[in-house]
Amino acid sequence: SELFIGLDVGGSKVLAAEIDADGHLVTTALRITPGRRVPVPLVEDALTEAVDEVAAGRPISGVGLAAAGFVDAAGERVMFAPHLPWRSDPTRSRLEARWGVPVAMDNDANCAARAELALGAAAGTQSALMITLGTGIGGGLIVDGKLRRGRNGMSGEFGHMQVVPDGHPCECGRAGCWEQYASGNALVRYARSRLDSPSYTQQTSLEEACGGLPEQLTGPMIAEAGRAGDRLAQRAFTVVGEWLGVGIANLVAAFDPEVVVVGGGVSAAGDLLLDPARAALRDSLVAASEREIPDVVPARFGPEAGVVGAAAMIRDAVAARG
Ligand code: BGC
Ligand code: NA
Ligand code: ZN
Repeated sequence: SELFIGLDVGGSKVLAAEIDADGHLVTTALRITPGRRVPVPLVEDALTEAVDEVAAGRPISGVGLAAAGFVDAAGERVMFAPHLPWRSDPTRSRLEARWGVPVAMDNDANCAARAELALGAAAGTQSALMITLGTGIGGGLIVDGKLRRGRNGMSGEFGHMQVVPDGHPCECGRAGCWEQYASGNALVRYARSRLDSPSYTQQTSLEEACGGLPEQLTGPMIAEAGRAGDRLAQRAFTVVGEWLGVGIANLVAAFDPEVVVVGGGVSAAGDLLLDPARAALRDSLVAASEREIPDVVPARFGPEAGVVGAAAMIRDAVAARG
């Protein structure tokens, strides 16, 4: 049978997965993203390794690339990527040549939106917003039952809406972007900054989790501590969740969607994150009592929505080429 691979390249990790026609993950391979200031070939070596591991010598029918960046309207170039070294880079054709297999490319959150629209939490809706919380915030815009990529292919960059004038500096080069307040990075920054505040030092297990070195603290450590009832970790999710809800209220004011789907690694925290977001959405949405407020739901494919959507994209592209 045919082997289609979804490949999700984020700011922290690279996930490759063989995906069957029903959107199930068959085999996966994980690599650490080499960095955002490294030479492009280094990132592509990591992608190649992950793809090779999944293929394990079998012929590949196609690779769908979900890239954490601004992919142009044609799906050819990554024009800009806050967390990766690609700049106006003809990524798709170069990888196609390097691997000798068909490659299709879109923004990572757009790929997640494709998966959720086709088979997941946005299936059957006409209007939906996809929000992915990882290193940054990604977005996908569904209007009239279709993913809308915008004039430049750059719609849905919700993470770089400015929510705090002169706020925290962002990897995009600007400041005060939403993703600085409601992403994995924001979660870690919050917890790090409170690690030695007097009210938490006695109780938090995070100190031990990071071996007393705040710079070693990671999102997954905070998620685990939060599930185990750690107060600082839970507080970090509440704060990030509230910022998430405020941003969603702005998006709902703009798009009035049926549903808001939240995916990405941070969303694995579930209601620890989504309950504060839902409350903040109700509190800050204009005309909240005159409308049906959209549900804020977890992605059916969770953090894997990107690879699932990417594989579906290349499967469709290969079928269309005949
Ligand atoms: C990038 C997006 C990406 C998102 C999630 C943002 O910083 O601008 O293109 O979708 O991070 O990875
Ligand atoms: Na997007
Ligand atoms: Zn930004």
